[in-house]
Amino acid sequence: MTQLDERDGVESTEQAIAAASRGSAAYRADPHPVYARLRESAPVCRLSPPHGVETYLITRYDDAKAALTDPRISKDMYAAMDAYHTIFGDSSIALDDNMLFSDPPKHTRLRRIVNSAFSPRRIESLRPRIQEIADELLGNCSTSVPIDLLSSFAFPLPLIVICELLGIPEGERADMQKWCAVVARTGFSKEDKEKLALAEGALREYFVDLIARRRREPTDDLLGALIRTQDEQGAMTDGELLSTLWVLLFAGHKTTAYLIGNAVFNLLTHRDQLQAVLADPELLPNAIEEIIRYEGSVENATFRHALEDITLRDTTIPKGSLVQVSVASANRDPERFASPDTFDVRRKGLQSSHLGFGSGPHYCLGAPLARMEMRIAVTTLFERFPAIDLAVSPDEAEWLKVPFPAFRGLERLPVALEPSR
Ligand code: HEM
Repeated sequence: MTQLDERDGVESTEQAIAAASRGSAAYRADPHPVYARLRESAPVCRLSPPHGVETYLITRYDDAKAALTDPRISKDMYAAMDAYHTIFGDSSIALDDNMLFSDPPKHTRLRRIVNSAFSPRRIESLRPRIQEIADELLGNCSTSVPIDLLSSFAFPLPLIVICELLGIPEGERADMQKWCAVVARTGFSKEDKEKLALAEGALREYFVDLIARRRREPTDDLLGALIRTQDEQGAMTDGELLSTLWVLLFAGHKTTAYLIGNAVFNLLTHRDQLQAVLADPELLPNAIEEIIRYEGSVENATFRHALEDITLRDTTIPKGSLVQVSVASANRDPERFASPDTFDVRRKGLQSSHLGFGSGPHYCLGAPLARMEMRIAVTTLFERFPAIDLAVSPDEAEWLKVPFPAFRGLERLPVALEPSR
C-alpha cells in the first residue's frame, strides 16, 4: 500500500500518476486531489495502466476541449487495432463498429441515421411515458426498510426507457442487463477477457436474432426505423446496424443510471443546495448541469489515439498512443470554473461550458434524453419522498471499483425513503 491508498493526500506528481494509472482505492473514493496535482504539474502525463498500452492523460480544461475536437486524435478503433486488442481482447471489435468508435466521414454517416430520433422535440414527446415509468418504479419501492436506490430506481429507469425506444421486449431485458454489466466492469486479466468475450458473444447473438425477428415482423420503434433505412437506402452494413443498437443501449443506460445516483447522493449531502432546488423548481435544469460538472458519470471514458506525434505542453504523445481526456478533471479546472470544488446549483453559464457530455463531433447524442430523464427522476423522487435520507454515512459510500477510471458512479446507494416510525 502506498501513502495514497491510506488516503493521506497526493504527496508528489509521481504518486498522482501512479494513482491515476491503477485506480487506487483512495483515488476511486475521491479522484480530485489527484487531478488537481496533475493539472498543476503534469497536465499531459504518461500513465502506466494495467493493460500496458502506452497511454496519455489530459487533465486541463482548455487542453481537454481542444483534444476532443482535434482531428489528429482519432476515435477510429480500426486504425488502432493492436492497442484495442491488447486492452479488450478480440471480441469487442464487432460490437464497436459504430459512431462512437469512428471518425468522419463514417462517423457523420452513422450519426446522421439516428440523429433525428434524439432531437429535443422527439425526446419531449417521451416525457409522459418516462414520468409514468418513474412513478411506477418508486411506487414499488419499500418505504419501511432502507433500499438500494440504484438497483430499484436509478438503473431500471433509463434501461426501460432505452429498451422501449429501441424496441427490446420486456421479457428479454434481464439477460441483456447482465451482459451489459460484464462489459462495463471488465478488467484486463485473461479471465476477465474470457468473461468479456462470452458476454459480448451472447449480446451479439441476441441482437442478430432480434434484428432477424424485426425483419420478419416490422415494428414502429427505433430498431424498426433503422432496419427500414438499411433496407431501403443501404445506409448501414449489418455489422454497423448491430453495433449501433449496442452503443445506444449501452451508452443510453449506464451513464444515466450512475448520474441519477450521483445526483441524489450529492443533493442529500449538500442539503442547502437541495433546499434551494425544492424551493425554486426552475433551478432544477441548472442543478442537473452542475451535477454533471461536479460529479458527472463519465470520468475518463473518452478513448482516443494519436494519428501522429503530437506535442502538447512540452509532452510529445507518440503516434499510436492511447489518449484519455479526463472530462472529470477538466470540469474541476479552476482556470475555467471559479471555486470548482464547490457544488453550487446556481452556478452560471454551465450548459455551454462543462464537458460532461463531451465536445465536438462526438458530443453526446443522448444529451436531451439524459437531461429529461434526470429532471424527471430527481423531481419525482424528492416530491414523493421529501424526507428521504442516506441510510449510510457519506464516508461509507462505495464508489465503483473498476480497474480503469472510465465511469464515476456508486456501487450502491442505500437510502431510507421515509423516516422510521
Ligand atoms: C457520447 C456522456 C447519456 C448516447 C457521449 C460522450 C460523453 C457522453 C462524454 C462523448 C464520448 C467521447 O467523446 O469519447 C453521457 C452522459 C450521459 C449520457 C454523462 C448521462 C447522463 C446518453 C444517453 C444516450 C447516449 C441517454 C442515448 C442513447 C451517446 C452516443 C454517443 C455518446 C450514441 C456517441 C456519439 C458520437 O460518437 O457521435 N456521451 N452520455 N448518451 N452518448 Fe452519451
